[in-house]
Amino acid sequence: MRIESLLIHGGIDGDERTGAVNVPIYQTSTYKQPFFGVNTGYEYSRTGNPTREAVEKLIADLEGGIGGLAFGSGMAATTAVLTLFKSGDTVLISDNLYGGTFRVLDKVFKNFGIQYQIVDTTKLSDIKDALEALKAEGSVKGIFIETPTNPLMDITDIKEVSKLAKEYGALTIVDNTFMTPYLQKPLELGADIVVHSATKYLGGHSDLIAGLVVVKEQALWDKLHFIQNATGGVLAPFDSFLLIRGIKTLGVRMDRHNENAIQIANFLKENENVLKVYYPGLEQHPGHEIQKAQAQGFGGVISFVLDKRIDYKKFLTSLELVTFGESLGGVESLICHPASMTHGSIPYEIRQSVGIVDNLIRLSVGIENVNDLIEDLYKAFEEGKAND
Ligand SMILES: Cc1ncc(COP(=O)(O)O)c(C=O)c1O
Repeated sequence: MRIESLLIHGGIDGDERTGAVNVPIYQTSTYKQPFFGVNTGYEYSRTGNPTREAVEKLIADLEGGIGGLAFGSGMAATTAVLTLFKSGDTVLISDNLYGGTFRVLDKVFKNFGIQYQIVDTTKLSDIKDALEALKAEGSVKGIFIETPTNPLMDITDIKEVSKLAKEYGALTIVDNTFMTPYLQKPLELGADIVVHSATKYLGGHSDLIAGLVVVKEQALWDKLHFIQNATGGVLAPFDSFLLIRGIKTLGVRMDRHNENAIQIANFLKENENVLKVYYPGLEQHPGHEIQKAQAQGFGGVISFVLDKRIDYKKFLTSLELVTFGESLGGVESLICHPASMTHGSIPYEIRQSVGIVDNLIRLSVGIENVNDLIEDLYKAFEEGKAND
């Protein structure tokens, strides 16, 4: 089956017993055991639940993995993956990635002796240098990348990084939230683990918080399933149902996100109120060629730097159609201020050094009429400079 059909029929397709075209919501915590020492395959819903299992099988099919795991949030998924490491291990991370991923490493895992090192993962030579520097200790056990990164849309070559990681005995973990398996399949490019904030494009309607993990080796799935059950951050049955429902329309939504985003990126590029546009679909983007080679599109997120003449607070609050708020990947366009919102937990100096400056704006382009979106942005630019 091709991906458009898999989105609708992958995993567990409907309900075999009744013929219902949708997987039922098994809203239960526990299961009756027919005989002593015998169960139906389900014992307790933290360990396994049929609705959750349906979304876990679906994401595994979509990413080309052997198994998936569903969690109560993207951060719960990332946290479960990071608990694969132990005290003394080091994880290399992209130099701009979702602030919450940095925060959990910096403020939680560091307390347990798991170290992180920030690297510009767009430069293979920088990754190699970091791996070489720590080779004697043998401490680098993982490379955690986002591509494109949140919020600067940096592109990392998944195939090359995975190859390098393997040489040094490290796992490659890719946060595939921005692309989804409709546009990019990291496991096929050599990565070991994919994580998702399914809250975003996979859910697609800004109505749930969820996280997913997919792997391509049984031993790794067994370990992560053990961790999922032991630590307990599972996705609820109703949210699993909503996520399956959202995934069915992922293809048509992503096509429209792609179409709208390239038009808006071009509008911003030509606009005198914008100093810089970060969108891998633009030919001048340094990662454009790698993105074209490893993905089927450029996605719906654009970041841009406003000219200093524009008051960014006024600009953000003048928008009427585009919603000013956290998150991305919904059918509605969402806009945020990374320095104070999504990336506020990253220290000021690091933010400045990588380019998460105060007049940086991140726009998640929705699937509304693109001309309405452009008109809204245009009007907000005018409002933003009203007191010139
Ligand atoms: C790229 C990326 N990864 C992970 C997360 C965390 O996901 P969640 O908010 O579902 O916990 C986010 C949230 O914004 C994200 O953008």
